[in-house]
Amino acid sequence: GKPQLKINGVVYDTHSDFTNVSSTILNLSDRSLHLEPAHPIGVLRKQIEDKLNSTSNSYQYYNDFRPVVTVEENFDSLGFPADHPGRSKSDTYYVNDKYLFRTHTSAHELECFGNIQGFSPRTEKRAPTEKPGFLITADVYRRDEIDRTHYPVFHQMEGARVWKRSSEKSSESHEPLHIQKIRDDLCKLEKQLREESSNLVVEDDKSLESNPKQDYMSDLEVDLCSQHLKRTIELLVAQVFNKKLQSMGSEDQGAQLQVRWIKAYFPWTAPSWEIEVFWKGEWLELCGCGLVREQVLLNAGYEKDSTVGWAFGLGLDRIAMLLFEIPDIRLFWTQDERFHSQFHEGQITRFQPYSKYPGTTRDVAFWLPEQKESSLIHENDIMEIVREEAGDMVESVKLIDQFTHPNSNKKSLCYRINYQSMDRNLTNEEINKIQENVRSQLVQNYKVSLR
Ligand code: PHE
Repeated sequence: GKPQLKINGVVYDTHSDFTNVSSTILNLSDRSLHLEPAHPIGVLRKQIEDKLNSTSNSYQYYNDFRPVVTVEENFDSLGFPADHPGRSKSDTYYVNDKYLFRTHTSAHELECFGNIQGFSPRTEKRAPTEKPGFLITADVYRRDEIDRTHYPVFHQMEGARVWKRSSEKSSESHEPLHIQKIRDDLCKLEKQLREESSNLVVEDDKSLESNPKQDYMSDLEVDLCSQHLKRTIELLVAQVFNKKLQSMGSEDQGAQLQVRWIKAYFPWTAPSWEIEVFWKGEWLELCGCGLVREQVLLNAGYEKDSTVGWAFGLGLDRIAMLLFEIPDIRLFWTQDERFHSQFHEGQITRFQPYSKYPGTTRDVAFWLPEQKESSLIHENDIMEIVREEAGDMVESVKLIDQFTHPNSNKKSLCYRINYQSMDRNLTNEEINKIQENVRSQLVQNYKVSLR
């Protein structure tokens, strides 16, 4: 029969045109770093969860979703067009033509929105959650380059909140009840922000030009929901970064914390934004968000015109690297006790490097095959081969030279591989062996000719 893959206890058929998941990825998929209470990713998750529920206790937590989801959940149900680059095999790990490793936590929005009112698009039905919002933390997977800040597995936290519309009017304000409710929720957030983060300086973006609202929402609903969304994220960002400022000592205490909102585009939210924070002289992108498109709510079983809400997706690894001063993203995945013994539940401590082991570089240069076939090789495929052979002994891979031969028209590439381990010294012998394997895998898989 067909070769099969067993992932988290479930057996999947492979598909020769789609399956591109490597054994490295399979091995990482049951680590669940975000569930380790003393791991930096777990500490950060808990801190944000506690903060967001401190205002109104509105969020249901989901922290144990398995990483394999359907193409439908990850892309289709969220309105990704058929030709969206995120769907390509060069960017995404496919199990087969129907299943993939989630590329973002938004893949679970549909299910969690459904849960709020007891509807499940899947077979196993859950009881309706009492809470009007949720936070999903999970590992997500993307094929990508190799360097100190990129790893094929990283972590996101998805947040969302809805309000059920009502035509009944409040006796005090004479506004519909849900409008009154959003105003009240917003008021609490604003109060908390004023009390805790008076150093926050926000550059907002309220223009709806080329960032249009949805027709089913009134201007007032858009305005109130957007404010609630933005203040929620500001509260979260302020608490995380202010904690860091405080721990850095008196010099930076009371310093301004600058954030800015920038309009963005996501197929399942409108309008949409990203927030950036100014940190150590650079604008860092933290989080994409927006008002949930009604189609997503309809897909999750909501009635037409019944509900308004927002969603965000926050990347945790970059923030954890900066808070805990972790210089290389591979450290999150090490099994070395010298790493793990440094972190404790509920505490943001500064990583003390236990050693910096020397690295060594090797170059690999090759001619690409004929034009037609060479277009089938994506840079991420080369990264994947190195990852598979070297595991976490590779620090970075960089294209250092490329040219096209004037007569033959053949193209040559040269990559520099930096080998370096976070945990130990590497011997020349083992690196030579890995490098040999990388070279032969390139030939076997992509028919390049080595130079
Ligand atoms: N899933 C998006 C990403 O990975 C972030 C996002 C989540 C945007 C929710 C809007 C709403 O970039």
